[in-house]
Amino acid sequence: MQVLVTGGAGYIGSHAVKVLLSKGYEVIVVDNLATGHVEAVDDRAKLYIGDISDEVFMDKVFKENDIKGVIHFAAFSLVGESMTNPYKYYENNVSKTNKLLKSMVEHNVLNLVFSSTAATYGEPEKTPIYESDAQVPTNVYGQTKLAMEHMIKWYGSAHGLNNVALRYFNVAGALEDGSIGEAHNPETHLIPIILQVANNKRAKISIFGDDYPTKDKTCIRDYIHVLDLCEAHVLALEYLFNGNPSDNFNLGSGEGFSVLEMIEAARKVTGHPIPAEVAPRRAGDPAVLIANSDKARKVLGWVPTRENIEIMIRDAWCWEQNKRY
Ligand code: UFG
Repeated sequence: MQVLVTGGAGYIGSHAVKVLLSKGYEVIVVDNLATGHVEAVDDRAKLYIGDISDEVFMDKVFKENDIKGVIHFAAFSLVGESMTNPYKYYENNVSKTNKLLKSMVEHNVLNLVFSSTAATYGEPEKTPIYESDAQVPTNVYGQTKLAMEHMIKWYGSAHGLNNVALRYFNVAGALEDGSIGEAHNPETHLIPIILQVANNKRAKISIFGDDYPTKDKTCIRDYIHVLDLCEAHVLALEYLFNGNPSDNFNLGSGEGFSVLEMIEAARKVTGHPIPAEVAPRRAGDPAVLIANSDKARKVLGWVPTRENIEIMIRDAWCWEQNKRY
């Protein structure tokens, strides 16, 4: 069965391609390479380089293949950049998704798994966060993802587009063999930056704020291994193929780790002292983000197997040392 992965050359998309292939799916990738890497795309996938908003190009993709479902990752995802350039985020994330959905409906491809985010919840009133909690984004990136969720729902009622939105918490790790992994430019995420220090590419890690209302005063996040995350995407797609109703699911571990705990775990995994210094808070960072993902476990039958931050750091460390793009 053929599945289209948009953004399949990106960090999460390239891992999803691997997981889909391992389960016997034929994978079509569409990526405009704005932030993706050709080297990240498995050779067994059929790669189309182009834009999801190019209707002529997408007609060709849908006509040349027999696509039964789409996993839509293609998006910009830098919170800081989104705050200074909202046009770029609304144009790339919202407008282009609108075009993709139009093409899907025209070609009668009516199963969609959408890459959403914890950023749609904004500053939570309580933890853990449930799917039914208020979605009040505090940054443009989260707002565009929420707009995309809403757009998809309306296509659902208007055109019968069956959809699942997966709201991820903090994605980490890499393929175990270190052949693909996270490669953002600029890199803003905690684990890759810590590991660049361990790899002597940076002098130290800055801890953004040590005055939060948490056990050690640094921010707490819920980390999930990218391969566990991708397994959930395949389960969500199969859930739709089996005729189940459209829904939203949180994807996280339900456990929170502070910035200091992550640095300590990385010291243990890498054996490097990883110098750290306290810096001012980063604007817009909630103190604690922890998911309740019981629904994904119960309804999708999701069983994450890498819920240990040392495994995530170990795999990301293997990638950091083998990085080829
Ligand atoms: N942090 C540091 N130093 C750094 C980098 C990060 O202390 O050099 C801290 C951050 O302040 C935060 C934690 O480490 O408390 C995690 O930061 P990341 O940037 O790795 O991840 P975020 O929690 O900011 O980002 C995640 C997702 C985004 C999503 C965002 C919404 O990765 O895609 O949550 O809040 F938009």
